[in-house]
Amino acid sequence: MRKVVIAGNWKMYKTQSEAKAFFSEFPTQLKTTAPKAAIANQQILICVPYTNLAIAQTVVPAIGLSNLSIGAQNVHWTENGAFTGEISPPMLVELGIKYVIIGHSERRQFFGESDETVNKRLKAAQAHGITPILCVGESKQQRDTNETESWIFSQLAADLVDVDQNNLIIAYEPIWAIGTGDTCAASEANRVIGLIRSKLTNPNITIQYGGSVKPDNIDEIMAQPEIDGVLVGGASLEASSFARIANYQ
Ligand code: PGA
Repeated sequence: MRKVVIAGNWKMYKTQSEAKAFFSEFPTQLKTTAPKAAIANQQILICVPYTNLAIAQTVVPAIGLSNLSIGAQNVHWTENGAFTGEISPPMLVELGIKYVIIGHSERRQFFGESDETVNKRLKAAQAHGITPILCVGESKQQRDTNETESWIFSQLAADLVDVDQNNLIIAYEPIWAIGTGDTCAASEANRVIGLIRSKLTNPNITIQYGGSVKPDNIDEIMAQPEIDGVLVGGASLEASSFARIANYQ
């Protein structure tokens, strides 16, 4: 059975005190919005800025939710070195971090991340026992010119060279749907994710949808047979809305 992973991506939001405030409210909100007695086979993950990663060792264990993890938003491919502004796999491992987002479109668009560096980061994360969440997705222009499939297939081919498909999550994030309120129709996200799955050597990988996921569209998205979870930006910043998303029905 494929694992469901409901992930938040806080991007460059929340100071440490704001993060603590979120986690003091989140468990109560999870209970308030819970539709069922137990959430089985489901991982809740929040990928935080580096300054909040230590929460994984302090705040989160105290909450006592065994299916809640903290993840990072990037990782370098070497263990240490003169790479100003980067963070290494051992630095994450020491904090108990088990997940990292790699190749988010904002990294590719604004910080020159290429398929080559994405591939190196994926392999480095895996070599240290961290599960990477690889983000792929097309721009509005690519969608309008019918290049969605070919673009995503080329990203997968380049990014997944020598990557272990037994320790990997993929997020399909159409760039035009990120932060715009313009969600990809659930059926279309399902179709593209099915195509992504058809290109993998391990078809049991968890594949998420990301792009303007909100409490009012999560149920329809999660009802799609190919979609195993979501990667949520804006709506993960508020405890009540992310709890409702984690408690999709
Ligand atoms: P959004 O961001 O939910 O704010 O659209 C998603 C993402 O960038 O992962």
